[in-house]
Amino acid sequence: MSLDKELAEYTAKTSHSRALHEEAVGVMPGGNSRTTTFFDPYPFYSQRGQGAHIWDADGTERIDFNNNYTSLVIGHAHPDVIKSVQAVAENGLSFPGPTEHEVRLAEMLTRRIPSLESVRFTNSGTEATMNAVRLARAFTGRSKLAKFEGAFHGTHDWVMVSVTPDPKTAGNRKRPKPVPWSSGIPPAVLKHTVVLPWNDREACAEILAREGDQVAGLIVDPFLCNAGLVPPADGFLQFLREETERRGIVLIFDEVISFRVAWGGAQERYGIRPDLTTLGKIIGGGLPVGAFGGRRDIMDFYDPRKGGPRISQGGTFNANPVTMAAGVATLNALTPEAYTRLDALGERLRGGIARLFTNTRRKGQVTGVGSLLWLHWTTETLTDYRSTRPKDAEAALRVFVGLINEGILLTQRGLGACSLAMSDDDVDRFVNALARVLARG
Ligand SMILES: Cc1ncc(COP(=O)(O)O)c(C=O)c1O
Repeated sequence: MSLDKELAEYTAKTSHSRALHEEAVGVMPGGNSRTTTFFDPYPFYSQRGQGAHIWDADGTERIDFNNNYTSLVIGHAHPDVIKSVQAVAENGLSFPGPTEHEVRLAEMLTRRIPSLESVRFTNSGTEATMNAVRLARAFTGRSKLAKFEGAFHGTHDWVMVSVTPDPKTAGNRKRPKPVPWSSGIPPAVLKHTVVLPWNDREACAEILAREGDQVAGLIVDPFLCNAGLVPPADGFLQFLREETERRGIVLIFDEVISFRVAWGGAQERYGIRPDLTTLGKIIGGGLPVGAFGGRRDIMDFYDPRKGGPRISQGGTFNANPVTMAAGVATLNALTPEAYTRLDALGERLRGGIARLFTNTRRKGQVTGVGSLLWLHWTTETLTDYRSTRPKDAEAALRVFVGLINEGILLTQRGLGACSLAMSDDDVDRFVNALARVLARG
């Protein structure tokens, strides 16, 4: 079935969402507040979520493999989270100062992540990476930021560079050019950004040898979670650790998504100790959150009790007790057994999809780790951002809309995540739905 036919079925099934969208565009550009979640003609409006399921404004139920872009790891409206949130909310939603809830979540995170000697909270992953970048600059006295081509680290200016660049305008694969991801990014940002090619040690070493003494921080999402979940090549993260250490560059692990793959995140899986870590999504149990932390001597820049050059961090709702309590309840549910179960769900899903591609000889592949997956519409060997760009540009959207029509929600670009609320049957429903979408494609 063509994209047009899938969209015709979608619009026929979502008349209440369409009506809401028509109302919304009168008061909001595009009719909502998240460009990254918009798709043409309109995204459906959600009404309710429970466990693995989500209901839209027309009352249609779907299995949610989007999980608010991976941020829900134990499912929608988990009873423990709701109970905690309700109990805390009854005593006040936010205060002009710290609460005990913040201390408890900070303790849980520092116990799970040994490199996190000290931590602070924000309201989003964007603010977490923004603070980590500022901190790296303050600590080193240097101004440039190194990031990987294709990597997404939020929506502040310093990281909105080379996120989904067209290779035609992005220079040589081994020496990628900084490309703004948005209008409104000042040229000064590009001048202060060093773009690295994922998994290419030789090229990275060459670039860092040339520019390393001006680089304050190197930010890396250890699984390239927003550019195809392309795993790091053997020893690549270790290589980054050694290069940054040698050159006095602050190594920032952006674990906003990858923290969901293990008790101590990707850094535990790979045995790497970064200087700073940024977190978000699952640590707020479904509420707005972010955190950054790491080496105490670096984090001390935020300590108002110390002298010297300091960093001021504001944020009216930082560490609000409701978010903190939701985070504590969620992490309490993420026991070692829970990770085993999440891994099993992810493996079952990726295995089922891989078999489907083989049996139907489709030009696709699936990547992922733990509870995460990414559907690719290319047969090229996946090594970096450029290799993940689909040959058939429409395929991802066609499958995304086709799956919605089949009662399965993914993300537009192909990223998906299992939650603890899912059963084996839910996972099998995904594979069967995908088989039907591909059969009519
Ligand atoms: C790796 C990574 N870093 C940072 C962010 C930004 O987080 P937020 O959307 O909470 O601002 C995201 C969001 O998807 C992310 O995936």
